[in-house]
Amino acid sequence: MSAGRTVVVGARGQVGRALARRFPGAELLDRAELDASDEAAVGEHDWTGLGLLLNAAAYTQVDAAQDPANLAAVRAANVDAVANLAGVAHRTGATLVHFSTEYVFDGTHPGPMPEDLPIAPLSVYGQSKADGDAAATAVERHHLLRTSWVVGEGTNFVRTMASLADRGIEPAVVADQVGRLTFADDLAATVVHLVGSGAPFGTYNVTCDGPPTTWADIAETVFEARGRPRSAVRRVTTAEYFAGKPDAAPRPLNSCLDLARLTATGFRPRDWRVALDEYLAALPR
Ligand SMILES: NC(=O)c1ccc[n+]([C@@H]2O[C@H](COP(=O)([O-])OP(=O)(O)OC[C@H]3O[C@@H](n4cnc5c(N)ncnc54)[C@H](OP(=O)(O)O)[C@@H]3O)[C@@H](O)[C@H]2O)c1
Repeated sequence: MSAGRTVVVGARGQVGRALARRFPGAELLDRAELDASDEAAVGEHDWTGLGLLLNAAAYTQVDAAQDPANLAAVRAANVDAVANLAGVAHRTGATLVHFSTEYVFDGTHPGPMPEDLPIAPLSVYGQSKADGDAAATAVERHHLLRTSWVVGEGTNFVRTMASLADRGIEPAVVADQVGRLTFADDLAATVVHLVGSGAPFGTYNVTCDGPPTTWADIAETVFEARGRPRSAVRRVTTAEYFAGKPDAAPRPLNSCLDLARLTATGFRPRDWRVALDEYLAALPR
């Protein structure tokens, strides 16, 4: 583990909360304590003894990010904040851990996507994350974790589907986007592994393992677990789902990330099916 203090920025988001549990002694900062996009505030913060800077702060509302009225907020959280925190890592010699997304790719690659695939974002969110990645990877001691389909505490797809199932709603769910779930706690465990094992700095794809699946298949599994028939989920294409929603962000059809680089460090990601069953078993009705 890195010597020195650990600080989590964006500590009340899904990933931030999971990091807080896996790094119990860490200083926890969310926007109220530190707006990471505020260069002066970041400069004035006491970083004495910093060893590990974990940045889970981000603007993550993919559709809202398409609205030009939100562009400044998107860029502030996903680009300026990363540059500010990269500056802190530069000055202190701390390791920077930053999180990114498969939305930096266009999803046309056939099969699992390697870390070095050329970026080609389809959306404002994806472009902002790509620009943030550039700032994070300029830090010598960095781990950039590209993840997808995150499920943790807070609003997420699995909770939404469970709620719809419990309320007797029969949703339309896209059946042509392919990927794997990532549980926030698995992501946080991966950070512990990477910084604790002395894994090489750089970019890592981090998701759960197991067969690539679709949102519709996941929704059906959730419905079944809530005692509803799988047929209550109406399978649609992305084009059908977003017809009449011109403001929605385009999504990559392939979200499946290649995990070979991560597994080569000795980390064995859980199968998403095992992780989902465990999550559903603990989800209140
Ligand atoms: N969720 C996914 O499916 C997914 C998929 C791929 C990658 N990721 C990446 O994973 C990381 C964590 O995502 P998440 O799902 O945990 O997001 P989240 O639940 O939306 O949490 C983000 C947190 O960052 C805070 N924040 C935003 N701007 C900030 C600022 N300027 N200064 C300090 N804090 C700020 C937010 O506070 P407010 O609530 O006040 O805005 C929120 O607490 C992000 O880098 C995201 O791009 C997520």
